[in-house]
Amino acid sequence: MSAKVDDFRLNLGGAEYVPIVIGGMGVDISTSELALVAARNGGIGHISDAMSPFVSDRKFDTKYTKAKSLLNRASRDQIDKTSVRFDFGQLYEAQRGYVENTIGRKQGSGAIHINVMEKLQMGSPSETLRTRLEAAMDGGIDGITLSAGLHTSSLRLIKDNPRFHDVNIGIIVSSLRALKIFLRSGKRVDRMPDYVVVEGPLAGGHLGFGEDWAEYRLKDIVVEIINFLRDENLDIPVIPAGGVFTGTDAAEFLQLGAGAVQVATRFTVTEECGLSPRAKQAYFAATEDQVEVSSVSATGYLIRLLKNSPAIGSNIKPQCEPLGYNLDATGNCSYIQAWDNTPVGPDGKKLPVTDKICICYHFSKHNVWTCGHFVYRLKDTTNRLPDGSYQLLPAEHVFNDYRYSTDHEIQLPPLPAAAGSL
Ligand SMILES: Cc1cc2nc3c(=O)[nH]c(=O)nc-3n(C[C@H](O)[C@H](O)[C@H](O)COP(=O)(O)O)c2cc1C
Repeated sequence: MSAKVDDFRLNLGGAEYVPIVIGGMGVDISTSELALVAARNGGIGHISDAMSPFVSDRKFDTKYTKAKSLLNRASRDQIDKTSVRFDFGQLYEAQRGYVENTIGRKQGSGAIHINVMEKLQMGSPSETLRTRLEAAMDGGIDGITLSAGLHTSSLRLIKDNPRFHDVNIGIIVSSLRALKIFLRSGKRVDRMPDYVVVEGPLAGGHLGFGEDWAEYRLKDIVVEIINFLRDENLDIPVIPAGGVFTGTDAAEFLQLGAGAVQVATRFTVTEECGLSPRAKQAYFAATEDQVEVSSVSATGYLIRLLKNSPAIGSNIKPQCEPLGYNLDATGNCSYIQAWDNTPVGPDGKKLPVTDKICICYHFSKHNVWTCGHFVYRLKDTTNRLPDGSYQLLPAEHVFNDYRYSTDHEIQLPPLPAAAGSL
């Protein structure tokens, strides 16, 4: 019988965890409820801070998005969005409220971390990062995973926060080179990361690779980084991510010297995941030829998604007044130009925008079906129900399957009462 994940433990910040981390999935795909399951079972769950004012409105009936829309109404019918502003006081309030609400419900010996993407510049890169990081720390988050960027100034921005040395801070990298850059920035404020997530080319979401992504292997990068840290006498747990589909895949990385694994795709089809029911069924039904690595994201990063994502080929007007999370330091987003350059059809309506998508609008509607490479194996993790749909999984079932399974086996969930499978 092969080794299993439960034979190992992750030591982080003086605590011991089941070495399973559910990765951050924005916008509110990795919900508080999903993260809470990981924590209750002794692992680590993530919420995502992507568009937290919008998420707060949906969860707690706040009105941040409407207020922002009103604040910026002057540019509603203009293509120039450089005047669009966020109220950073409100951003702080929204983020802190969301974190406090989640942490306030935590049970068990695990932890809840927040995924913070540098790329979401909100028209003011430093101010938004500082605000979101401070609010998460002040709201009591257990850990922060810095992602989607090199984060060379993130530690400096929060070095005076009273929790700077107490909160666990990790970074997601896809190469040793990126890790070295981050470590140099840490030295300047005397703060090393507490963990390093190494995300390979098979992960879901945006990728830290270029068009040559298929030439890289997660295992090679992980081994290179483990060896580097050992040579530098740095005792920092390494957490591989991307394509870890079975408990045995995970255990193999733990045997190599990884501290834990970060997984996401298998949790996209759980009851607690924030995706719409339609999206969850599309993930289950996906075939390998529907999965592509695409350049349509207005962030400039490649993204892995299903070709049948509803966002592709839409012609939605840029939504920067209410949303605008992807506006860069100069108030631009590549979708604005793509939309402006798209001609109007014979019916007087814009033709579909083919090269970019409005990520704020479409992520808010769960129209971007981003997924890990092995999404097409999800159908093998559940039962098909008599109506042809796939049975959603309790997150705890998936967590325990990772934790206890051996020999690459995947346990199917018990059938719902009174249902026979197809
Ligand atoms: C639907 C989905 C959304 C994701 N969103 C984010 C995100 O907002 N930020 C981020 O750093 N990673 C994101 N990821 C990456 C995951 O956190 C994780 O590292 C990766 O997908 C693990 O690989 P796996 O999906 O093959 O298990 C996302 C992944 C998925 C599947």
